Amino acid sequence: MEQTVFLNGEYIERSDAKVDIEDRGYQFGDGIYEVIRVYEGTVFTMSEHLERLYKSAEKMKLTVPYEMEELTSMVGRLIEVNKVEDGFIYMQVSRGISPRQHHFPGKDVPASVIAYTKEFKRPVKQMSEGVTATLVEDIRWLRCDIKSLNLLGNILAKEEAASKGDFEAIQHRGETVTEGSSSNVFIVKDGTVYTHPVTNLILNGITRRVIKDLADENGVPFVERTFTVEELFEADEIFIASTTSEVMPVIKVDDTVVGQGVPGPVTMALQSWFTDRIKAACKKEV
Ligand code: PDD
Repeated sequence: MEQTVFLNGEYIERSDAKVDIEDRGYQFGDGIYEVIRVYEGTVFTMSEHLERLYKSAEKMKLTVPYEMEELTSMVGRLIEVNKVEDGFIYMQVSRGISPRQHHFPGKDVPASVIAYTKEFKRPVKQMSEGVTATLVEDIRWLRCDIKSLNLLGNILAKEEAASKGDFEAIQHRGETVTEGSSSNVFIVKDGTVYTHPVTNLILNGITRRVIKDLADENGVPFVERTFTVEELFEADEIFIASTTSEVMPVIKVDDTVVGQGVPGPVTMALQSWFTDRIKAACKKEV
């Protein structure tokens, strides 16, 4: 059966959803997006994602033409009509359609809003066995805090990792490890979790926030400070985190085996508390 998608206020079949060739999202990557997880038909951390969408919009002087409640009910409707069980919602807002020019179009040009859903299973095998990563230079712009459609730097990084058979690219600016191409990066040393602080150089991940919360709740020291490439290679454990990867152990970076070469205890504890959070969120809805 065909999926229903949201396009500027209308719910239509996917094959009927057409994008104008002068949409600024298409021509310039002039827009923002969110990926929101659905577990057992329940949306996970939706308000956090929507709040970040509005924040990204504000930072790039873009007006989202819907209120939070409207976006919330739109998400609910899409999940219902598409009968999403385990999956995600992709939502995108671009600066609308206008003849190509770099500066903003007039205020009368409305933003384009699209959303669709997709089935996606939890990556349980990779979460239990761990994944490998490639270290790459972070060549992205200096506003990585905006969840922008401009993902060329991220794409080139991920492609380098994928071409080597690795799951993720861990990026560094000079000596400092920043984040993954589509995830945040964490190391564990002597029982303490370290991750890059929330600055313009990383995306303030929603999964990262949940992990911080879980660490605090369970008495695991969680330190937001930059760490070096050297510290990365000397870490007891490494993990990455994102909406689709959850808490994902990294067991090798380039040719360096992390710790014992298997997912470490702190990572696995966080992963299991994260699963409990998901279960609790699903129960709450019923
Ligand atoms: N990626 N950093 C970057 C560069 C990301 O693209 C993402 C998410 C994250 C983690 O954020 P969150 O925990 O809120 O998902 C960090 C999404 C899933 C994507 O682009 O598909």
